[in-house]
Amino acid sequence: MLPWFNGPFCPLYLAPMAGVTDSVFRRLCKEQGADVMVSEFVSADGIIHRNERTREMIYFQPVERPLGIQLFGADPERMAVAAQAVVEWVEPDFIDLNFGCPVNKVVCKHGGSALLRDCPLLEKVASTVVRKLHPFPVTAKIRLGWDQASINALQTAKILEDAGVKTIAIHGRTKDQGYSGDADWDQIALVANTVSVPVIGNGDLRSVNDIARRIRETGVRGLMIGRAAMNNPWIFRQARAFLRSDIVVPDVSVQEKWDHILRHCRMAVAENQEEEFTMASMRGRLMAYSKGMRNGRELRSELQRVTKIEQLEQIRSRHLAQSEEDELAVEAA
Ligand SMILES: Cc1cc2nc3c(=O)[nH]c(=O)nc-3n(C[C@H](O)[C@H](O)[C@H](O)COP(=O)(O)O)c2cc1C
Repeated sequence: MLPWFNGPFCPLYLAPMAGVTDSVFRRLCKEQGADVMVSEFVSADGIIHRNERTREMIYFQPVERPLGIQLFGADPERMAVAAQAVVEWVEPDFIDLNFGCPVNKVVCKHGGSALLRDCPLLEKVASTVVRKLHPFPVTAKIRLGWDQASINALQTAKILEDAGVKTIAIHGRTKDQGYSGDADWDQIALVANTVSVPVIGNGDLRSVNDIARRIRETGVRGLMIGRAAMNNPWIFRQARAFLRSDIVVPDVSVQEKWDHILRHCRMAVAENQEEEFTMASMRGRLMAYSKGMRNGRELRSELQRVTKIEQLEQIRSRHLAQSEEDELAVEAA
């Protein structure tokens, strides 16, 4: 059993998200109380070819532990060799196998969710990696199945359990759904209540209420939060306080949100050393943070053009002043 399942509380995972959950963001979520991290997915071939970008993707700092590196690929031997190399290079706490990615580039090479409709190959990939790394822990992340007509999460989970994986994270959608529709937590509950390894539930956890309800109703042993953390990394702190002590932590103020956004950008620039490039690559993150903020449309169009921290500081000052004026106007009315 992985040690973070031994405590009395359900561990909260930060979901792997390509282009989002880099080391900086993981550290920020860790500060807020996320328990377990998984890297964005990394290609087994990229590891084997020792390409530079892949090396950057598996970089992490000790404070992020426990952390797993997630691999995708469809060739059992190459996956095992890559997994072994990752363990030797960076010594993560576990290796996670991606059997859920719906992206065409991955699926057409038979990787990610393509393996959900090729259970013999999925079994081979999982058991080959588990054997190669033994006793080092291997975990897996799946979706419910390929499409609505072929939901097979239970079958897949049993195969993975028999192959020796230590936990199974389930995103409650099919490959065909992509990110549309709602995650089906009945299916997640069915698996959680059938297999013996811990099941980590994932999909549409947007609030502390969602989190508390899924723990109560489904039998999952851990929860994984993805997109909600992009807009609200404080969700971990709020969930932790509620689950552990019944304390309701209010949402952060707009001032605190801006302080966080600026800190995130400064950390990213410090890490990458290249301000304009980094700020351009942070725009998607800024869009996510700005969701739900006042004057959203105007704010987003400004954030789309940011190339320097200094510009962001100016936008922040204007936005805070505007928010204050709006509040005073509301009070006066
Ligand atoms: C931008 C983005 C990138 C993602 N990249 C990965 C990935 O690299 N590996 C993976 O297993 N899942 C990936 N996912 C899926 C998430 O881990 C998660 O399963 C999904 O977003 C559902 O959870 P949520 O509703 O909490 O966001 C990604 C999702 C998003 C939105």
